[in-house]
Amino acid sequence: MPKFDDQFITELKARSDIVDTISQYVSLKRAGSRLNGLCPFHSEKTGSFTVFPDTSSYYCFGCGAGGDVITFIMNTEHLSYVDAVALLAQRCHLPLPEDEKGDEQTRKRARQIEMNKLAARRFFANLRDEKQPQGLQYFLGRGLSMSTITRFGLGYAAESFTDLRDHLRAAGFKDEEAFEAGLLIRSQKNGKYYDKFRNRVMFPVIDVRGNVVAFSGRVLDDSKPKYMNSPETLLYKKSQTVFGLNFAKANTDGTIILVEGNLDVVSLHQAGFDGAVAPLGTAFTKEQARMLAKYAAKVVVAFDMDKAGIKATDKAIDYLEELGVSVRILQMQGAKDPDEFIKQYGKERFAMLISGSKNPTQYALEKLSKEHDLGEVAGRTEYVRQAVRLLAQISSDIERELFCGTLAKQTDISKETIRMEVERARKRYVRQTKEQIFQKEASGFKTQDRVNPERAQNLRAAKAEEGLIALLAHSPDKVAWLTEQLPPQEFVTKFNRRVYEFFIQKIGEGVSPENVLSVHFEGAEVAKIMQILNTVTVGEDVIKQMGDYIRTLKEEQEKKIGGQSPEQIKNMLKSKRS
Ligand code: GTP
Ligand code: MN
Repeated sequence: MPKFDDQFITELKARSDIVDTISQYVSLKRAGSRLNGLCPFHSEKTGSFTVFPDTSSYYCFGCGAGGDVITFIMNTEHLSYVDAVALLAQRCHLPLPEDEKGDEQTRKRARQIEMNKLAARRFFANLRDEKQPQGLQYFLGRGLSMSTITRFGLGYAAESFTDLRDHLRAAGFKDEEAFEAGLLIRSQKNGKYYDKFRNRVMFPVIDVRGNVVAFSGRVLDDSKPKYMNSPETLLYKKSQTVFGLNFAKANTDGTIILVEGNLDVVSLHQAGFDGAVAPLGTAFTKEQARMLAKYAAKVVVAFDMDKAGIKATDKAIDYLEELGVSVRILQMQGAKDPDEFIKQYGKERFAMLISGSKNPTQYALEKLSKEHDLGEVAGRTEYVRQAVRLLAQISSDIERELFCGTLAKQTDISKETIRMEVERARKRYVRQTKEQIFQKEASGFKTQDRVNPERAQNLRAAKAEEGLIALLAHSPDKVAWLTEQLPPQEFVTKFNRRVYEFFIQKIGEGVSPENVLSVHFEGAEVAKIMQILNTVTVGEDVIKQMGDYIRTLKEEQEKKIGGQSPEQIKNMLKSKRS
């Protein structure tokens, strides 16, 4: 199954510095010989994610994710092992071994990136072509400056069925390829290929690595459909793409402004709000929320105030809060969307809207009060009932107290009564939440030991084994001595034994075992081994430390054998020999 050999992977890892690579995704701070940052694999506020330059590995003390530079790329870019290796190889200009060149998926991705780049350039050139001025006129008419247009690489798809097709052909791309990249459509009638985007102004969709992965095209008039987006391709997954994030991810204050439309994003950036992004026509998804959480501690949701926008706002609040992102809701009056608002009232007023944006409780309470007729007893009762549940979820005592006051005034019920109800609901809520967390942790614990299921029952032995593995990785020159003292058969848990054997074998071959783990072990196994290598402290006297572990392990062996029947011992010896 493994497609690459140890030598190639060793070379690749020597060239792909783990700190440089991970720094492109996570902001790291040095702490002694390690570096820390916020884990990209789970949401957290303190940096449990640790990079170990010594072993070229990473490990998160919060969620247990760990591995090497290859598994890191697999998990952050959602790539297969082969594709992750290919991506790293491309970045460090290491040619892939001969038989890997044909890896279909990787080659196709690269060609699609190339086609999209050419298309974006073509659209941009069209926009500046005096013979077809309508695209530029449209954008200028909507108040965009030339420098904004250039920054976003906005363009114009010609009023032609063949402009882009012929351009791509001339550059050596087949129609079928461009069709798969979502740039051409195929005629039902004659089976021929034509431009998908025609007579539209074009927004290139750029991913966080800076590749153009799709396009969004708008008509110049009121015809339908107003926007047309690329279909999903190898490069473009709708639910995982956020328009503008390539710019917003670098914004200075860590606040993202989530809006509905592409044009809102572009206008906001032009007005200096460089955290603006949009979900690209689709409903806001959990994956998109996760992407935002990677780059922002705070998200201001500024969707349109219509029915669809309100629904999307609720979802965004849910998804983002679950990830620990602080959410604010911006509400506009007198304009349909941020683009219109800024044109009407200017950027200073928009900045005021941002600072006046509401927290989710405020927002929910207001929404709730609009849904009920507070003039009627029935309406008021139901409103208070639901509002109490809402207030129970506020963790700040002060804030809860303030909202109790608001609710009392609003409904003409005594503050005492409301407070009592809220505190009672709060207790219930806290208890339920704790139970949920407990269950989550319990199930997480089980999955963590999938790799070494015998560990829990043989904890003392397993820990000694892990100590030995880590020490061996640290001092490979001790391999002969250690193997003599403790042959692999003496290991208690099967997984650790396999790891130990692997280390002995690779050291014998003159290969650094930790470099080639991903060639021989699965992702979860690699993570576990990295955990072992990075959590054992190596002392001054390695031999003495090894000796202690060996003694522990032998004691545990004795204990095990001592408590067993002769048949069991025989069986155990048999299984060890096999
Ligand atoms: P402008 O009229 O250009 O200001 O656009 P808008 O962003 O104000 O438009 P609207 O609020 O109607 O749409 C918001 C977003 O929804 C757009 O940016 C698109 O991403 C998406 N959208 C709107 N209309 C369509 C459509 O007809 N098809 C698709 N696929 N997406 C659309
Ligand atoms: Mn608009």
